[in-house]
Amino acid sequence: MLSILASCSHNEKKYKIGVSQCSEDIWRNKQNSELMIGAYFHDNVDLCFVAAYDSDERQIQQIDSLIDQGIDLLIVAPNQVSTISSAIDRAYDKGIPVIVFERKTSSKKYTAYMGADNYEMGRLMGEYIASRLNGRGKIMEVMGLKGSSPAIERHDGFVSAIAQHPGIEVVSTLQGDWTEPTAYSIVKQWLDANDGADVDLVFGMNDRSAMGARKAFSEKGKALPLFCGIDGLPGEDGGIRLVRDSLLEASYIYPTHGDQLLQLAVDILEGKPYKKETKLMSALVTHDNARVLMLESDEVIRQSQNIERLHEKASGYMRELSDQRTISWLAMVVIALLLTSLLAIYMYFLQRARLHDERRQMEREQLDFYTQVSHELRTPLTLIEGPLEQLAATPEIQNASDETNGIFAIVRRNTRHLTKLISKLLDAQVGATSATDGDEIDALTVNRPVDTVPSIDDLDENASTVLIVDDNADIRAYLTSILKGKYKVLEACDGQHGEIVAQEQVPDIIVSDVMMPNTNGLEFCQRVKTNIITCHIPVILLTARALNKHQIEGYESGADAYITKPFSSDLLLARIANLLQSRHQLKDLWSTKPAAEVAKEPSSAATDYVADPFIERFKTIVESQMGNSELSVEDLSREMGLSRVQMYRKVKAITGSTPVDLLRKARLQAAHQLLTSTDMTVSEIAYKVGFASPSYFTKCYKDEYGKVPGESRKK
Ligand code: FRU
Repeated sequence: MLSILASCSHNEKKYKIGVSQCSEDIWRNKQNSELMIGAYFHDNVDLCFVAAYDSDERQIQQIDSLIDQGIDLLIVAPNQVSTISSAIDRAYDKGIPVIVFERKTSSKKYTAYMGADNYEMGRLMGEYIASRLNGRGKIMEVMGLKGSSPAIERHDGFVSAIAQHPGIEVVSTLQGDWTEPTAYSIVKQWLDANDGADVDLVFGMNDRSAMGARKAFSEKGKALPLFCGIDGLPGEDGGIRLVRDSLLEASYIYPTHGDQLLQLAVDILEGKPYKKETKLMSALVTHDNARVLMLESDEVIRQSQNIERLHEKASGYMRELSDQRTISWLAMVVIALLLTSLLAIYMYFLQRARLHDERRQMEREQLDFYTQVSHELRTPLTLIEGPLEQLAATPEIQNASDETNGIFAIVRRNTRHLTKLISKLLDAQVGATSATDGDEIDALTVNRPVDTVPSIDDLDENASTVLIVDDNADIRAYLTSILKGKYKVLEACDGQHGEIVAQEQVPDIIVSDVMMPNTNGLEFCQRVKTNIITCHIPVILLTARALNKHQIEGYESGADAYITKPFSSDLLLARIANLLQSRHQLKDLWSTKPAAEVAKEPSSAATDYVADPFIERFKTIVESQMGNSELSVEDLSREMGLSRVQMYRKVKAITGSTPVDLLRKARLQAAHQLLTSTDMTVSEIAYKVGFASPSYFTKCYKDEYGKVPGESRKK
């Protein structure tokens, strides 16, 4: 991750430039910082500085080490002309571009040279000195390091200028090494050895040498000669200040130009055109210009410091930026990881939920399968067990031989055993479910007969009517055989048929299977219970679906009883009888008691029906048509939107009376009301409540109340 980040922020190739300085002093320091400032403008440059402290061996070593470090370019100021050449050649031969600067090498193996013209500098200084001494005087020359090119060239230039002035005599040329302590010690030595000798001017080949000489002269306590140097550096310790403060008579600005040097290096590295030899221009520093130069150079220093500060700030911002970038990347990585984890967790739960659903689905399918198999097995078992029980009760079997009875007992016992086994097997709901193939299921799924609706006219008047709804014709036949002695039996082959028969014939009770095509038993039961005509009919669900959950479903659909297959015929008969007996009937719809009194009776069955919309409507119609002696049950049925049969059976079921009886009761009750509360004649009252003849009214009234109408008159 970090390597990706690193490669993101540093994708440009970095050039490594080795800078080999021959010594370490303020001139070199100035140049090094200029090189660094130059590098600020090039993000792709890394500088590596080394200083040899005026030692050839050390400089050779350092250059070799830079080569080993894999520098891309070498900038070198050779300590001496020939001693460092071998190391420079090695770099050059390795294909490393070499810029020789400020000091020269004897080798031709370099890529470019940059520096001031030291010969010219020495010559101009010679000219200046000659003119300053007005062409007459004694001069001491303190040389730079022996064998270094500026020392040689400055000397040659100086000598060539002085030679033009015969009045100028060089009394001594001392061998220095560019450093102040060496200059001091050799001048001191010379002064000690040449006590009394006159010197008008000392030319130090650099300012530090001139100042070393000055120190030695000062210590002698004699009148000081003039001192001239070279370098003319800015700043407190620099030559410009020394000239301004008259410690030096003159200096020569020896240009550092580090930024220009760096640009040359970058141009070479980037394959841009460059000058092989660059000569840097320079200028003399004297009392005349030292003040101005000092001001200017101070300003330059100040600006350089500003640049430095700006760079530091910029570097700080860059660091912050890079930190922020790293943080952003890390944050993004963390967010990505987080999102991935969340997604993974989500997928995991999704998968779990899916597996759970699949398992539930499988369980449901398994249950359905067992339920179906159970149904299919229990049905034929019912048809074996039930008839066997019926047979057992017949005199033929009861009086049969012991052998026949024995065989019969074996059959009965094993049938019961088989029933138990199947119940256990199926109710346990264990084992694999998928083994049974479609053929077996088909083999079990039999009997889809279509029934016709029998007519009510065939039925016996007083017996209750049972509607059997089952798609299995054998079951229907068996049930019919159980019920037919006691009840009128209607049949339907599924819920859809059952609904039609129930509405048309309004049976007293319904026995229905649950698993049936088209409309199943639960739906059928629900429809029966929500229909105004059939809602009062008790429903027994008769099914192989033996689980509690199935029974609950059955009761939720509105069933009054739930009997599981295989069932005992006695149990079924008992349940039917019980349901028929316990149904609530509104006997007192128009009893002789006033309605208010009936309503007051707390647990009276009447209260159950008070709010029944069917009854309410029936009563309203009857009361409004009271005076109409022509009013027939057909009229009433039409008004109610029912057939005559529907009307008859619904009214009979919930009141125990026929519609005709109810109508008559309503009329008699109204008459009774009028007799006890008005002065109307009996005939008037008879017609008013819809009797066609007063004599018939009197007969009916007597039947109902046990007295003739006149006896009920108000006293
Ligand atoms: C700095 C220095 C200068 C001098 C130059 C000659 O190292 O000694 O003072 O002018 O080198 O190469």
